[in-house]
This record gives sequence, structure tokens and C-alpha cells, in this order.
Amino acid sequence: MSHSHQDHIPVLARELVDLLGPQPGDTVVDCTFGAGGHARLVGDLIGSEGTLIAIDRDPVARARFLEFESTASCQARFLPVEFSQGLKDLQNEGIRADGVYMDLGMSSLQVDAAERGFSYSHEAALDMRMDPRQDLTAGVILNEWPESRIKQILQIHGEERYAGPISREIVRRRPLNTTSDLVDAIKAGMPTAARFGSGHPARRSFQALRIAVNGELDAIDAALPIAWDTLEIGGRMAAISFHSLEDRRVKQFFAGLAVGCICPPELPICVCGHDPEAKLLTRRSITPEDSELETNPRSRSARLRGAIKLAERPAG
Ligand SMILES: C[S@@+](CC[C@H](N)C(=O)[O-])C[C@H]1O[C@@H](n2cnc3c(N)ncnc32)[C@H](O)[C@@H]1O
Repeated sequence: MSHSHQDHIPVLARELVDLLGPQPGDTVVDCTFGAGGHARLVGDLIGSEGTLIAIDRDPVARARFLEFESTASCQARFLPVEFSQGLKDLQNEGIRADGVYMDLGMSSLQVDAAERGFSYSHEAALDMRMDPRQDLTAGVILNEWPESRIKQILQIHGEERYAGPISREIVRRRPLNTTSDLVDAIKAGMPTAARFGSGHPARRSFQALRIAVNGELDAIDAALPIAWDTLEIGGRMAAISFHSLEDRRVKQFFAGLAVGCICPPELPICVCGHDPEAKLLTRRSITPEDSELETNPRSRSARLRGAIKLAERPAG
């Protein structure tokens, strides 16, 4: 597999940059550095007086950051931790940002690294960890967790219709050692016709396990409010999500901040004095144009949302 610098094409890149509008001298936090595709564009705009703070829990991203740093047009630093932790650390340092963004999910560097077990098309151990320092792997979930919990993961994180029979097959076939063992169990749990439906039959289950292994939804819930608090007034926040469970969280978070008056509708005048903390920059989510969909299949389900900070959140 090639590890050239072209192997990760940033998704919705122009749209993200337009939304954030980075200015020379800005401080911007990239919560999901990955291969640094978005960071490169932002770094060029904030320039030598600007600072890009990158976070990623994957050591491969850290290696990419070191390359980025040596040629970047801005100042840069890297936090090799889970992003809600990284954002907390920045807050404790008293850092305020003009922009914060996250490009959720996994990077193509991760999917393409066959040995990491993210891909149903490569034979590998059942790993799927973004952060190899963590103990929980897909193998632990598949071989040690109760069938009911596996079923729930496949159902909720993967919206897999056949979560019941697939989890039964998984438990019956223990121990599962490789991604092919998992693909076989998934196929065996599905009716024949469903195996030939849209997309690879293991796609939803692999997504579900990856989300569970990496605690991705809890990480988003924890990070959104801290990211928002890190912003200066007038600062902008953006998030790119890849499935409805992520997008719903981002959408509801911004919508909650954008609420103005919260008086009961029967009151003739406002007595709550509640002001919105955010103005939405995307009333509907932004999705890729046809040209991007054609050149980058990974952009297929991408949605971008953003908001500008109008006021500080009330304390407490
Ligand atoms: C979609 S990729 C980002 C790609 C990047 N925007 C680019 O242009 O190259 C997502 C990255 O975020 C990292 N990541 C995902 N969730 C994370 C979390 N909760 N904490 C830290 N890093 C996370 C992954 O390791 C992965 O490298």
C-alpha cells in the first residue's frame, strides 16, 4: 500500500475552510489531524503569526504531524491524546481559539493499513484501535462480551437489521481470530438475499465495532462543549461527520446553542432574557458536490455543520 502524501484526500476541504474563514495570526485547533490535509489548508491561511494546534490519538497521525511541522507556513503543535482530553488540556493552559474543527471517524491512513483490522477487505487481527495504547480491541468485544451487548452494538452503531442472528453466529464461532472470521460470521448471520444487497455485507457491522472499540460517540459528546468553550467570541466551530449518529449529535449541539428566547409560547412578551450563544453557519448540513463524490468515494456520506460564537455560555 502506498504511503505517499496523496493517499488521504481531505473531505469537504474548500467548504470547511470557507466556513471557518481562518485569518492571518489566528489560533485554530484541528481535533482530528489525521494526514493533515485540512490542517495544511488552514495553516497556509493563518500564516507565520498563526498557530495550528493539532490533536490525534493515532501515532501514525503524529508521524504525519512531524512532517507537516517541518514545512508548515504556521506555528504548530501536537497533542497525542483523545480529543476531549486534548481540548481540556488546552483550556487548562488558558488557550482561546479563533477556530476549532473536527473531521470525525477514521482516516484513509487507518483503513488502508491492512494490519490494523479496520477493513473488511484485508485479512488482519481483530484490532480496530485508533490508539494502540488502549486495551480494548475488536477481538475483546467479539470473543469476550455477551451476545446481547454485541447485538446492541451492531443494532445501534451500525443500524444492522440482522444484528440478532449475526451476534448469535459470532458467539457460536468463538474464538474469532481475524477479520475474515468476522466477515464469515456476518455473512452466515444474514439471509442470502441480504448478502447481495447494497454495499459489502460487513460494512455496517465493521463500522459499528469500530465506533464501539474507539468510544467514538462518547468522545464526541464529551468534546463538543469543551471545544465550544475554547472559542473566543466571534470564533467559529465546524464538524464533518460521516453517519447519522455523529451528525445528530453535532446538529443538536449547535441547535441548542442557537436557541434564543425560551419563554413559553403563550407569553405575549419575552421575560426570559435568554440570548442565543451561537449563530448557525449551516441551516442545513453541507454535503459534497458531485465532482468531489466522483473523485473521493470516502466523501459519500460526509456532512459539514458549523456555528459562530456570539456569547459566552452562562457559567454552571
Ligand atoms: C477522518 S480522519 C481526519 C483526516 C484529516 N482531517 C485530514 O485531512 O487528513 C480522523 C482522525 O481523527 C482521529 N480521531 C478520531 N476520533 C478521535 C478522538 N476521539 N480523539 C483523537 N483523535 C481522534 C483518528 O485517529 C483519525 O486520524
